[in-house]
Amino acid sequence: MKVDGKDLRPIFFDNEKNEVCVIDQRILPHKLVIEELKTVDDIIKAIKDMYVRGAPLIGATGAYGIYVAAKNYKEGDFKDYFLKECERVRLSRPTAVNLEWAVDRVLEKVKAADYKDVVALTLAEAKEITEEEAENCRKIGEYGVSLIEEISKKKRGETVNILTHCNAGWLACVDYGTATAPMYAAYDKGIDIHVWVDETRPLNQGARLTAWELGKHGIKHTVITDNAGGHIMQHGMVDIVITGTDRTTYTGDVANKIGTYLKALAAKDNDVPFYVALPSSTFDWKLRDGVKEIPIEDRDPNEIKYVTGFSEGKMHDVLITPEKSEAGNFAFDVTPARLVTGFITERGMCDANEDSVIKLFPDKGKL
Ligand code: MRU
Repeated sequence: MKVDGKDLRPIFFDNEKNEVCVIDQRILPHKLVIEELKTVDDIIKAIKDMYVRGAPLIGATGAYGIYVAAKNYKEGDFKDYFLKECERVRLSRPTAVNLEWAVDRVLEKVKAADYKDVVALTLAEAKEITEEEAENCRKIGEYGVSLIEEISKKKRGETVNILTHCNAGWLACVDYGTATAPMYAAYDKGIDIHVWVDETRPLNQGARLTAWELGKHGIKHTVITDNAGGHIMQHGMVDIVITGTDRTTYTGDVANKIGTYLKALAAKDNDVPFYVALPSSTFDWKLRDGVKEIPIEDRDPNEIKYVTGFSEGKMHDVLITPEKSEAGNFAFDVTPARLVTGFITERGMCDANEDSVIKLFPDKGKL
């Protein structure tokens, strides 16, 4: 997508410097800082500390991590070193299934290769995954825009109000975004839309990142507290909810940023359609029961106890709880399939159930 007229992606390979580069999303929207990830430790830090975040981008970064591991090999048994480094990358964040999917895909590409070819092969595969994810998101936009178009027609051109949670935009996904791709496509077609942006405590990915992205594209939006969704749905102020996901079972259960489940409950109670946009890399083809089986990341309690903001040219943390209070930082929750109206994928739309998902992806199938 374009930022101030220039093409920008949250991850790219700088061919001149021969380095993997990412936007440090912790500092957005206040400053646009690009970091070079030169070592596997840099890759892991970027994923764990959320310079990069969002399922497809975590996957792409993990894929480049395997290239960085191969490139930095110095001595000893290559296979032993390489597989250990890959495992460290794979385990750097637990909930987004894209990470293990991408690491496995790059490893599969080199499993029978000669060492001398591994660096080039891993780089090529990481680039391919990155391009594919961008294209998948573009297609999600193409399919998803029909939902917004339909609502706009029913409302005779009046503003379509969309609610989204967290950031499932191009910053999370290489390009276009998942949840935001239909919004960008609708805006570009001239449909009048307005987006309610959940702030998404504790790290405020909605308030910081989604608001920034939408603003840069010219889309009308309003940042709301995480708890406002139920109220505005009761008052007819939301036509459709579209979120992303970090891992979705082939049976239709959706893990996404903490608070998504409550939005789905409120949507059900108010007859508001609740759609989830995702590329096939975010489906987990092994797990059946999302609530019981999807690992939910438990993050640093200080993310709850402190708020981070920008003043006098730098980021500051400010304590908001009593110093000694304990805090629990469950980073994701699972919305059961029964609360999901449908999925928007790169192959089209389907219902949130096993038959419908497998019909759209017969080649992935359940294992
Ligand atoms: O903790 P984050 O910022 O990585 O969580 C991201 C989300 O929950 C997004 O909504 C999700 O990854 C979908 S990204 C397309």
